Amino acid sequence: MVQDYREYIDKVLVSEEQIKTRVRELGAESQPGLRRGEEILIVCILRGGVMFTVDLVREITVPPLAIEFMAVSSYGSGARQSEGEVRITLDLNTRIAGKHVLIVEDIIDSGNTLASVIELLQTRSPKSIYVCTLLDKYERREVEVPIRYCGFKIKNEFVFGYGLDMDEYYRNLPFVGTVDLDRYEPPAG
Ligand code: IMP
Ligand code: MG
Repeated sequence: MVQDYREYIDKVLVSEEQIKTRVRELGAESQPGLRRGEEILIVCILRGGVMFTVDLVREITVPPLAIEFMAVSSYGSGARQSEGEVRITLDLNTRIAGKHVLIVEDIIDSGNTLASVIELLQTRSPKSIYVCTLLDKYERREVEVPIRYCGFKIKNEFVFGYGLDMDEYYRNLPFVGTVDLDRYEPPAG
């Protein structure tokens, strides 16, 4: 049995309403940068960035845009922080040369994951690369990541919901909550 999140949630950090409002704002904020006639590629970082990406792209109406997915392994189940080493487990299926790339991520913590992704994508000659993250755990940054659009800056607490998982569960929650790790029992196996 997977533990019910209500047993270990500490508090709702960002509510469903706050997320909706901010996503709408971010959609509007990012529009001017996305110019008509230029090719825009939204790169969703799986799996955490999925909720944010699908909500965000519906708020962007200006240019014709395409959506691509990339998966990166930062840390295994049970670990609560990423190691320096980052592995691309799913790469883009599209050439990005000459395109404007907007990377959409759930959270930037140490910055290692995004820094590696940006470094890799830069070698493919995009016209630009911008980063849009829902959450910025700024206190834990080890590597500088240029964040163009940010939903919420948060303190150093482990969070879940709205794309972010507790050992792969509860990504579907419509809000972001903090975890009381003392009350959390990781799933067996
Ligand atoms: P970074 O490489 O340390 O910046 O870690 C980034 C990745 O770690 C994110 O894409 C998330 O998947 C994951 N992550 C970091 N903090 C949290 C958290 O509080 N909850 C869930 N996942 C997190
Ligand atoms: Mg992630």
